[in-house]
Amino acid sequence: MAAMIVAVDGPVAAGKGTLARRLAAALGCAYLDTGSIYRAVAAKILVAGGDPENAETAAAAARDLEPIDLERDDLRLEKVSQAASKVAAIPAVRAALLDFQRRFAAAPPRGLNGAVLDGRDIGTVVCPGADVKFFLTASVEARAARRHKELLERGEQSIYARVLQDLRERDARDSGRATAPLRAAEDAVRLDTSAMDADQAFEVAMAEIARRGLARQPG
Ligand code: C5P
Repeated sequence: MAAMIVAVDGPVAAGKGTLARRLAAALGCAYLDTGSIYRAVAAKILVAGGDPENAETAAAAARDLEPIDLERDDLRLEKVSQAASKVAAIPAVRAALLDFQRRFAAAPPRGLNGAVLDGRDIGTVVCPGADVKFFLTASVEARAARRHKELLERGEQSIYARVLQDLRERDARDSGRATAPLRAAEDAVRLDTSAMDADQAFEVAMAEIARRGLARQPG
């Protein structure tokens, strides 16, 4: 049977990562957080003292990216988040990273049923033929509150108003760019998670997958 592909897209802190990780575990699929790829490109540029908005620098960093770079421990820093959305707006960067994502989706490790990818353009560009696509949304205030709580729980300093501003800036950049902007695929199932917890979002998504007869046992 062909590998199953599940796409989970949406803006910052809409709950994509949590949902995608849980779906992958429940479905016996591999999981790829595609945001970490853009973050890794950005982190490498910042560490080298480069400019993430310079198209040549960014495209070279994207072409040189290696799987080990996705394990860097600086990927979640706020300055890396902002720089990631800057490199992500450069078409040559997106083009260089497309193959890696498609190969992952098409050839999950042996024994797995498929792949779950989360990002901004999985359902529209990376895997337009995905078996099921989810597009998560939530109000910007709900997302900022979640991100703020997450940062505080990690022991990082956080000011709600700054988190809200950061989200608005990234939303504007991700939605406004010319190449692969953040938007829902026409055939995506939309989930507004503003008033849902992670368990509820997971149950709704699993019910949709079961309704389509896609759920399989691992192995
Ligand atoms: O999802 P995450 O916040 O980790 O992504 C970091 C940045 O990478 C996003 O703000 C977005 O600009 C970019 N990104 C993207 N396409 C994806 C995944 C992430 O443009 N598929």
